[in-house]
Amino acid sequence: MNHLTWRLALLCLLNLGLLAGCASDNEEDLNPQPNACDTSAVTFSGTVNAILQNNGCKNCHAASAGSGGVVLDSYAEVKKRADDGRLLGAISHASGYAPMPLGGTKLSDCDIAKVKKWIDNGAPNN
Ligand code: HEC
Repeated sequence: MNHLTWRLALLCLLNLGLLAGCASDNEEDLNPQPNACDTSAVTFSGTVNAILQNNGCKNCHAASAGSGGVVLDSYAEVKKRADDGRLLGAISHASGYAPMPLGGTKLSDCDIAKVKKWIDNGAPNN
């Protein structure tokens, strides 16, 4: 291959990369930096509980409803599901768990990462 052909080939490859980048529309691909999702300061009250509230989890998992025997209306109850693995299993749609939110849209990767981080931290009441 001569010099010019190489340059053209390289240009094509670059273009392909750019096009692929533009074609994807999810947040992670648009923000590929490792720190695009900030999990450094997750708390129960400020982060996890808000995620459960904002995604309708509490509607079906109130103490009075408790779908599937799971109640998510207090720290103690959420902690129980953090410890038995069902909280993360359900929101990450892991096999063997009922995918949550039931009938709704899966949580964003960032929200799942935050819940996971809180669990990895020992699921503290903070
Ligand atoms: C529309 C009602 C509804 C919503 C909204 C909902 N759930 Fe559920 N959830 C259920 C039902 C019903 C079950 C029992 C499913 C089963 O056992 O097949 C369940 C089961 C679960 C389980 C146990 C899963 C397992 O396999 O052991 C967890 C944990 C859970 N939900 C968490 C959540 C979280 C977190 C959210 C919000 C992101 C959520 N749910 C939203 C109805 C709901």
